[in-house]
Amino acid sequence: MEARQLRIGVIGGDGIGPEVVREAIKVLSAVSPPASLAFDELPYGADHTLETGVTLPPGEMERFARDYDALLLGALGDPRIPDMRHAVDILMGARRKLDLYINKRPVRLLQDRLTPLKDRHRGDIDLVIFRENTEGAYAGIGGALKAGTRDEVAVTEMIATWKGTDRIVRAAFEWARANGRRRVCMASKYNAIPHAHGLWARVFREVSAEFPDIEATALFADVVAMELVRDPTRFDVIVTSNLLGDILSDLAAQIVGGIGLAPSANIHPGRTSLFEPVHGSAPDIAGRGLANPLAAVLTGAMMLRHLDRREDAARVEAAVDRVLHEGSTTPDLGGTLTTAGVGDAVVEALGRDR
Ligand code: NAD
Ligand code: IPM
Ligand code: MN
Repeated sequence: MEARQLRIGVIGGDGIGPEVVREAIKVLSAVSPPASLAFDELPYGADHTLETGVTLPPGEMERFARDYDALLLGALGDPRIPDMRHAVDILMGARRKLDLYINKRPVRLLQDRLTPLKDRHRGDIDLVIFRENTEGAYAGIGGALKAGTRDEVAVTEMIATWKGTDRIVRAAFEWARANGRRRVCMASKYNAIPHAHGLWARVFREVSAEFPDIEATALFADVVAMELVRDPTRFDVIVTSNLLGDILSDLAAQIVGGIGLAPSANIHPGRTSLFEPVHGSAPDIAGRGLANPLAAVLTGAMMLRHLDRREDAARVEAAVDRVLHEGSTTPDLGGTLTTAGVGDAVVEALGRDR
């Protein structure tokens, strides 16, 4: 039976975003049956915002939800737009408007040499961060008094709702159970943030009682940061709030090779979801062929798996394994290849897997 054509909306975005997304598309096209994926490249990003004055046209997010099976994004962030309003409207806008409440960030050590930690080997570090993606300090609630003066008072409200916390904690436990994982750890700061994170602690206790087969541990987020370095093998799944998840996911990426290798997915089950690497637009290396495209490629694999193209996803991951093993990488991982060279190497490795 011929595979249904999937429509992917692509926002390369800024800096290295378009560079790494190009390689992801190259790999996804090579692994997929002909014409089974259609990429619709969208112009949104800093250049478009500066040229038109519009970050994202009205109704566009709703159209994404109607027209696309998924969105693939590179990165947003440009020094010419210091308030990041385009990222707020596009990336944060998608998370909020499409209600992409699960930010799933896998952390796997694929090669012994990629970790800066002593005596950790492939297979030792294999965890997934479930970051709540619509609430917390990112809810966009706040304001300022006497802005721009020395008397300025700025307020950002951190919110936690029972429903919003329950659904992400539940997603973490359900994923753990479905994937044969034994442990879920909640990272919070309920000692210092008793209202919002106290709610997290109560929800975690209640939901974990429904999963007696899974070991549930509540830790403070600073301890989780420490433990990720001291003994990351103790984690299978970490579930946490928005800002803490942002910080912990960069830290966790670094113990398995850095953000050049870290994929992520912004998911609402059953709806158009958005896939993007954990890293940003890296203006310091943009336009020089230095960006590692493997985070974007692995992000593409997450997207395929989410869209039920499991075999294709596994083939991409195996090809990435192979190029890492052979040292066919960009300089961040010690290699000498360019961004496009790594994309080509993955495609070539795919060709050898049958
Ligand atoms: P960054 O992730 O862009 O870069 C941090 C460091 O990692 C830099 O030294 C960079 O060169 C390096 N790096 C990042 N990706 C790499 C890759 N694929 N290969 C090799 N090296 C890589 O973080 P930043 O510098 O703090 O942010 C730059 C801009 O990107 C900011 O505007 C920020 O807000 C934005 N940002 C966007 C996203 C997103 O769109 N999802 C994520 C994070 C940051
Ligand atoms: C991420 C990024 C974003 C975040 C920025 C660009 C707003 O750092 O996706 O991790 O903080 O969520
Ligand atoms: Mn981040």
